[in-house]
Parts: sequence; structure tokens; C-alpha cells
Amino acid sequence: MIKIAALPGDGIGPEIIKESLKIIESVSEKIDIKFNYKFCDVGAIAIDKYNNPLPDETLKICKESDAILFGAIGHPKFDNNPNLKVRPEQGLLRLRKELGLYANLRPVRSYDELLSLSPLKKNIIENTDMLIVRELTGGLYFGEKKSESNFSSDTCTYTVDEIKRVTYLAIDYAKKRRNKITLIDKANVLETSRLWRKTVQEIALKHPEIQLDYMFVDNAAMQIIINPKQFDVILTENLFGDIISDEASVIGGSIGILPSASIGKTMGLFEPIHGSYPQATNKNIANPIAAILSASMMLKYLGYENGAKMIQEAVEFSLKSKISTADINNNPSMTSEVGDFIKKYIQENF
Ligand code: IPM
Ligand code: MN
Repeated sequence: MIKIAALPGDGIGPEIIKESLKIIESVSEKIDIKFNYKFCDVGAIAIDKYNNPLPDETLKICKESDAILFGAIGHPKFDNNPNLKVRPEQGLLRLRKELGLYANLRPVRSYDELLSLSPLKKNIIENTDMLIVRELTGGLYFGEKKSESNFSSDTCTYTVDEIKRVTYLAIDYAKKRRNKITLIDKANVLETSRLWRKTVQEIALKHPEIQLDYMFVDNAAMQIIINPKQFDVILTENLFGDIISDEASVIGGSIGILPSASIGKTMGLFEPIHGSYPQATNKNIANPIAAILSASMMLKYLGYENGAKMIQEAVEFSLKSKISTADINNNPSMTSEVGDFIKKYIQENF
């Protein structure tokens, strides 16, 4: 029995989590594994109920689970109000920190069926396949913060150990891919970036099969758009990774199809890259594929590689069959129809 904490969160979160659970259920019958789900509140909905974006009960259930399936977080009523002390996003940030989820993996690839959807030219994006490895529990997000009436500061700090553990992980992934790592930093200006370069360089020397390149983040922002195929594994710190991964999502044709995994020593959290998309809430129009592919990443993390592959293949078939939502299809299917189609494919083909 595998214990899953399901945290649907805000906006379209509940709708897409429903679809990904549907898919996990169909796979569980094929690979004969039982999953047990516990649903908990996080984000704006938890603030509304408990005035706490990460209630103790949610954290407890997460800690007792084998993996966490996360929907989305955020609500417009909390945006553009800089005086608020409690914000939905704090729930996710605290969860990452409390569970030690130090690495965020964001695979970005192009799908032949979706090439025309990207504002980028087909010949630039076709056959792109990169993995962004973003450090997730350090840097500006978690350094000391100060806020006074006419002064504020956020501090960027990194220790060698924080850099090392995520670098080891990036190297493991690079070895399973094309043996190339590009470290994205701002080492011409920032001390923390210089520490990253030094530390990553030292580790890479012990792995001669790895080709390590460096790129300043401003240049990288351009290179991702003009020549994305040059990247295999991108390794970067927290804020740069946040920005670069939204940018890279343009290559896939829609942010609605990009999954992610946040992993630590003993825990994994799986979530779509997209946010809570409040305008689409309860309309059954959101793309469930990012959440479904996140479930695939979860199965792989739990050791069920063949289950993960079933989902991947079924999703690709849904794209080929043009059963997809409005963000990627002029003749769209609804969220639940896409889920049903993928589920049926798994039931009938494995
Ligand atoms: C992400 C999100 C989060 C982040 C927000 C919701 C705090 O943008 O997962 O990329 O900035 O890390
Ligand atoms: Mn982000």
C-alpha cells in the first residue's frame, strides 16, 4: 500500500488532481499496486478555513506519506495587496522547506504535435529535450528578509553543502541523459554564483564523462529562446530556476503540459508547473496533462517505471489524437474528457 497525500490547493487544482488520480487508479490496476489517498488543504483555501496556508494536519499527513501530489496554489484576492502578512504561496514554500525538498526537476521537451503552437519557430524547438534542475530550498526565497516602512531586503545565501547535494543529483540525471550540464548563474556579479561555480566545478572534475558549461543567466534567457537544443541538464539556483523554467515552457507549446518533481532525501512532491489559473476554476477547461505527467513522475520516483511509461505513452496518444483542452486545441475537449481518454487508453492497451 502506497500512501499518497493529495493536496489539490486552489483554483483549477482540485479539477486537475481529480484527473491525475483517475489515471493513477487505472495504472494501479495494471501494475497491481494499491494507493491510499489522504486529501488535505493548502494555500488560499487553507487560509480561508484555518488562517494558515499550511495547517499542522496537512504537514503531518505529508510527512507520513510516501509521496505528495500537489495541485496549484494562489488566489487573486491575495495578489496586489503588499500589506498582507499571510499569503497562499507561503504554504508551498514552507512545505518545501519542512520536507527538505531541495531539488526541483522540470523536464521540458517539444512534442511534434504541438510544434505549431509555440510562438517560436518549428526548426528551433523541434527535438528539444532538457531537464531543468532548480535548487529549491535556498537563495533569495529563504534568506533573511527585512521590511521597514522605507526599506526592505531579501538576502541570497548558499552553503557549499546546499550546492553540493543538488549538483550530485544533476550529475546523476545527466549521466542518464546526454552527459551535459549547463550551470546558469550570475558569477560576473554575485558572490553566491561564484561559490556555485567553484563547487560545481570541483565536483565535475571527479566525473570526467560530464561536460560542464557555464552561462550567465541573462545570456541563458536568450539562449533558451534562440537555441534550446543546446541544453541537456540545466543546473541553477532557486530564483533563476523559477524564471528560466517559465520561459522554457514556451518550447512545449503550453505551460499546461509541464510537470515537475520536487525531491529531497526521503520525500517527493509532484506538481504541475502552472499556477491556479483562477479564471478557469470549475469550468472543466484546464489542461490536466501537467498534473497527469506529474503523476507519471511520481510513479517513477516510487519505483514503478513501467506504470510511469504507461502514462507517458497514453498522454502522447491523446495529443496525437487531438483529444486536448483549449490551450492547445481549436476543437477542444473538456478537462474530464481528456482524463477519461487517457484512462481508457491505459485500460485497453496495457
Ligand atoms: C513555482 C511557483 C512558486 C515559486 C510560487 C507559487 C511560490 O512559481 O513553483 O515555480 O516561485 O517557486
Ligand atoms: Mn514559478
